[in-house]
Amino acid sequence: EPTDVAERDSKRLVVVSNRVANLNAKAQTGGLAVALGDALSASQGLWFGWSGETSVDAKETMPKIETKGDLTVATIDLTPEEAEGYYLGYANRCLWPSLHYRLDLALCNEEHANIYFEVNARFADNLMPLLEPGDMIWVHDYHLIPLAEELKRRGCTSRIGFFLHTPFPSPEIFAAVPHQKRLGDALMRFDVVGFQTQSDRENFARYVCGFMNGEELTGDLLTAQGQTTNAAVFPIGIDVQGFANLAAQGDGQPSLLPVAPDGDMKTIIGVDRLDYTKGLPERLRAFEALLEQYPQHRRHVRFVQIAPPTRETLPVYQDIRREVERLVGQINGRFGDLNWQPVIYLHRPFPQDVLARLCRESAVGMITPLRDGMNLVAKEYIAAQRPEDPGVLVLSRFAGAAEQLREALLINPHDVNEMASTLDRALTMPRQERWARYNRLRQRVETYDVTNWRDSFMQTFASSDADPVNV
Ligand code: ADP
Ligand code: G6P
Repeated sequence: EPTDVAERDSKRLVVVSNRVANLNAKAQTGGLAVALGDALSASQGLWFGWSGETSVDAKETMPKIETKGDLTVATIDLTPEEAEGYYLGYANRCLWPSLHYRLDLALCNEEHANIYFEVNARFADNLMPLLEPGDMIWVHDYHLIPLAEELKRRGCTSRIGFFLHTPFPSPEIFAAVPHQKRLGDALMRFDVVGFQTQSDRENFARYVCGFMNGEELTGDLLTAQGQTTNAAVFPIGIDVQGFANLAAQGDGQPSLLPVAPDGDMKTIIGVDRLDYTKGLPERLRAFEALLEQYPQHRRHVRFVQIAPPTRETLPVYQDIRREVERLVGQINGRFGDLNWQPVIYLHRPFPQDVLARLCRESAVGMITPLRDGMNLVAKEYIAAQRPEDPGVLVLSRFAGAAEQLREALLINPHDVNEMASTLDRALTMPRQERWARYNRLRQRVETYDVTNWRDSFMQTFASSDADPVNV
């Protein structure tokens, strides 16, 4: 509606997230920073978040304010105790595994939970003086669920929206998370709650109805305990043309990877933070099974896995790294040759143009998380392909992206043999079939790009009535 568009365009967008992209860096690992960096480039908004630094006097320090073009970025430091309790503790040891269906890995310490709620209050204290009347405040991800409640407690009357970048698990799982009731109530204080997929939205609605005594109203509205929120689906996307352009920059240049003397070498690529949700050990075992069960591929295929470090001080992340590195060594030792290394494993970030070119050079994109909110790499792989000779996307059915990217080869990431036979199928797929699948996928990735994600959220946001009982 024209009025919504006019209203939306006249309001300032204030984005709040724990992680804020370093706008001067070429490499950003993590879908949130990549997507928000793209969504906010050339925006006149404000981006508020954690600087990524700790300092002992953080609580006495004012936010640091920088400008990049029209965008203002304001960050605060955390104290070492806050980073430990809020970020590493409750957010990443309790919420992250729970939201990804890993209650077995969820550790909740009361002290950490208290610090999580306190840091959200401190975000609100620091953000309030930077707000202007009528701002549209858009809060991101599981670190900041209590923020609307805290802002409203301080008299903020702006509309506040939320977007969850991770899955929202089935209600029985969410109900098992310590402090779930407080989190559920806090989510209902947002005017809009956005999810990556229909199934995440359905899980949330089932939670609200089944565990909070709430009900579904017309449209996307949910109500519980006197609060009403608009719960809707906004699948996150990428800057398709930007990524495609980076990928094409390498055309006509020498390959980034070693060239086999007979030219007969296909590449399978994986790009993921080294996180236990990404299914890396299962993926490596699937590649090993491919070499074992389909010996015709030996010496003619290599698997490049780029896996930058993430949340390294947490023991589960140290465990997954050890497991991945052991498997890489095992496969290379068992199948490798003096002139063929089956797995190339790189434990560091790379600039986006290198990732884009590698995706274009690879015959198969292997994206097999055990659970993932969306997975941007799946979309990046499609954007990077040569339209006339595209590669094949092998994608986990448990990535949010599978709801949209139905023409990928969808696999169960727990089933190593199914993945191995799917890899064989991908490596031998005729060009006509590759092209037909790619065309459909590329269209969908283009339609649901990062601009569409931002604009459709903003449109819903502008048109949702600020509910008087919510203020
Ligand atoms: P997550 O948000 O869980 O990390 P996504 O797949 O949604 O997963 O987003 C990851 C983002 O980080 C992608 O844009 C990807 O290109 C980027 N990325 C992943 N690994 C690297 C790396 N080694 N160097 C630079 N960027 C990376
Ligand atoms: C996921 C989360 C983001 C997070 C990113 C990187 O995408 O949904 O909120 O920023 O991982 O993790 P980090 O802990 O480094 O911010």
